[in-house]
Amino acid sequence: MKRFKFFKSLKFRIFLLLALIGILPGIVFRIGLLRTYESRAVEIRSMDILSQAKVLGTQIVTNDYLNNPSSDIISSQLDLLSNVYDGRVLVINNRFQIIKDTYNLDGGKTIISEEVIRSFKGEEITKYDSDDCYIEMTIPLTNNETREILGVMLVSVSTDSIQLNYDYLEGNALVIETALGIVAVALAAFLAIRLVRPFGKITKSINAIQTGEEQEELAVSDYTETEAISNAFNQMIKRMQVIDQSRQEFVSNVSHELKTPLTSMKVLADSLLSQENVPAELYKEFMTDIAEEIERENKIINDLLSLVKLDKAVGELNITQVNINELLEQILKRLKPIAEKANVEMVLESFRPVTADVDEVKLTLAFTNLIENAIKYNRPDGWVHVSLNADHKYFFVRIEDSGIGIPEESLEHIYERFYRVDKSHSREIGGTGLGLAITRNAVLMHRGAIKAHSKEGEGTIFTVRIPLNYIA
Ligand SMILES: Nc1ncnc2c1ncn2[C@@H]1O[C@H](COP(=O)(O)OP(=O)(O)O)[C@@H](O)[C@H]1O
Ligand SMILES: [Mg+2]
Repeated sequence: MKRFKFFKSLKFRIFLLLALIGILPGIVFRIGLLRTYESRAVEIRSMDILSQAKVLGTQIVTNDYLNNPSSDIISSQLDLLSNVYDGRVLVINNRFQIIKDTYNLDGGKTIISEEVIRSFKGEEITKYDSDDCYIEMTIPLTNNETREILGVMLVSVSTDSIQLNYDYLEGNALVIETALGIVAVALAAFLAIRLVRPFGKITKSINAIQTGEEQEELAVSDYTETEAISNAFNQMIKRMQVIDQSRQEFVSNVSHELKTPLTSMKVLADSLLSQENVPAELYKEFMTDIAEEIERENKIINDLLSLVKLDKAVGELNITQVNINELLEQILKRLKPIAEKANVEMVLESFRPVTADVDEVKLTLAFTNLIENAIKYNRPDGWVHVSLNADHKYFFVRIEDSGIGIPEESLEHIYERFYRVDKSHSREIGGTGLGLAITRNAVLMHRGAIKAHSKEGEGTIFTVRIPLNYIA
């Protein structure tokens, strides 16, 4: 397993790539060069011999050597040619008889080979046999005047010397190539280790941060890429810290909010218990206060439960087709007693019938909170105006009130859990500070949006936009 991991590593891949880049050109170069050398050397050798053989051929014809092979001058020149090139020369007359063999082996014998026959037809043939290391040439001996072919000269020379050179060059090239290969491999290994090192650094740093050894940020700026990773990582850490902090804040807020009514109850109960002969009216008054606190505690717990449900229920929406006009009418009907008590007038204006795929319970919760706020944070004889509209993609609910408004600096905080603009006033009104957090969660779960506009002392407008068809 560990071995496979190594082969999969970037280090190994870089090493392989660099090593190949280092070694391959050498191999290609060596093979190419040696090939060229061999063919070029054979070509030059052939041309040399051919030109000399042709000169001799002319002499053979002019001196009528074919009919009179006793000419010592020409014989010795033929011997010289074969000695110089480490080869053998045969002169063949038109009866295919060997009249001269510089090896003195086959003189007088008849030779009928394919090349000889072709040469009698005028062809000049050069053949290279690289396996047995020789060049063979058959040259027609032509009378210059009559153009008649009188005989054929067959020259075969050994190319051992070329082969020797070839082997020598190959040996040298291999030594150089091996040396270069070793250097290339070493360099490749070195570079691979170096180039990949920053990634190791990243892992080490992250581990150190994780175990708490290091508090600092990740900063591996060796490459643009590692810098990008570092930045992304730091951002993620920051986000996690924010989440962690808000979680801690939430927990401490929850404990505080839950304790407040309990403390009040304890104070009320204690004061009753510490007195003797308490009049029944006082009992009744204190008990009413205690009941109110219990009611409040209950409200906070209920709100918390809805919020927790919304928090973890991502994707757990119970989507059905809902008539939004009816949904809003129902909510207004239910809130009517509160509005009447606060002496606030409520108006619902529907621009068109709207049905949408939504979670009815959660959306009811959201709109109830918004309209309840509009009633609660209003002025006496104030009004609340709810309107519903839609286009082909979304429906829009607008809740406008003539209330106390929200100061500009508070607008960005109103969705935070337990946030209330004016704690004392809000408490009197009886909120938990969780309503808008619940509303926003419910809207976002529907892939919707919520916006608030407000002017202190004049009123507030909340607009909610929800897609008609639920986007999973
Ligand atoms: N329509 C509104 N007009 C004025 N202030 C509002 C309105 N809606 C919300 N707020 C302010 O935002 C705060 C947060 O609202 P919310 O989360 O519903 O909590 P609460 O339980 O106090 O109603 C409220 O305490 C109030 O100060
Ligand atoms: Mg509220």
